[in-house]
Amino acid sequence: EKGGYPHFMLKEIFEQPDCIHDCMRGRINIEGTDIALSAIIDHKEKLLHAKRFIIVACGTSWHAALIGKYLIEKFCRFPVEVEYASEFRYRNPVINPGDVVIAISQSGETADTLAAVEEAKNKGAFIYGICNAVGSSIPRATHTGSYIHVGPEIGVASTKAFTGQVTVLTMLALTLAREKNSIGNEEFRQVVHELSTIPEKMKKVLEKNDSIANLSQIFTYAHNFIYLGRGFNYPVALEGALKLKEISYIHAEGYPAAEMKHGPIALIDTEMPVVVVATHNNQYEKIISNIQEIKARKGKVIALVTEGDTTIKNIADFCIELPKTIPCLDPLITTIPLQLLAYHIAICKGKDVDQPRNLAKSVTVE
Ligand code: M6R
Repeated sequence: EKGGYPHFMLKEIFEQPDCIHDCMRGRINIEGTDIALSAIIDHKEKLLHAKRFIIVACGTSWHAALIGKYLIEKFCRFPVEVEYASEFRYRNPVINPGDVVIAISQSGETADTLAAVEEAKNKGAFIYGICNAVGSSIPRATHTGSYIHVGPEIGVASTKAFTGQVTVLTMLALTLAREKNSIGNEEFRQVVHELSTIPEKMKKVLEKNDSIANLSQIFTYAHNFIYLGRGFNYPVALEGALKLKEISYIHAEGYPAAEMKHGPIALIDTEMPVVVVATHNNQYEKIISNIQEIKARKGKVIALVTEGDTTIKNIADFCIELPKTIPCLDPLITTIPLQLLAYHIAICKGKDVDQPRNLAKSVTVE
């Protein structure tokens, strides 16, 4: 049942190219020129008149929500708030008519997310679910939604569900932007085409598995890790840190890279590995200076870079080269090496990656 892999987590990481393909099936045309997410089309009157969007989720799904905020703001120009479901549900949140709440949950059973959905529904919001488990409680409680269709996720550490959620959020933002006329034809075609190439690019990333496994052996000594990213890769940094914490029990913190100088930089010394998502995008120069700041304090830098990068190769201690894509789709590529890094570090430390201590696959308690 693990398909020849030693753990479900590794199997699920390697399934991602097929999962993302399945997630897009019937939603992006074969030519890679058009997208239609049927729930958006069916409810477009309601969605186009939204005053704001609020995305509620927990854990990894909350990280996907942060990427969703950036996508919907960029392409649709709607204001979007992202909330931890637990905080949202317990503070009598302000919901006005015309608010749309998007609930993201792999299992569809997370108690706090379900309660946030009920709370928002009682206050009159329109609820859109993004879930994996078909027929689970959250999809049944929502007005409409889109399944991510990545198949059962068994490993406690969420992997393919995250990339599936980000893919659905991308298709949601693009479909809505098209209906709203807030995206030009050229940009729409470019993003849709690029999205259709992501599964092939993911396969290229997975070819790095052996080198990431080798790299991981070097870092089993660490008691702490910092993960940095900017823009669309800031939530990726948070997700990379969560993966490492969950399965290797190494303390890890994710930050938007520019926040370093407001405090966390005090932590940097020779013992501190810093993972920097430093692929080519519009903040590339800034991320180079962030890396220089870390090197000046003798931190060890593991950088995720775009294929062919030479500048960062000269300053970082280790580089993982990744295929180039456009900035808004970068998380679908940059997340994978961080999943593999966490997996291999945990394996080197002899941990049970599929059943980490103190964790359950779905958190049905409050
Ligand atoms: O099933 P859900 O997406 O609602 O689960 C939310 C979190 O409990 C989940 O993402 C958790 O953080 C994972 N263990 C992360 O790997």
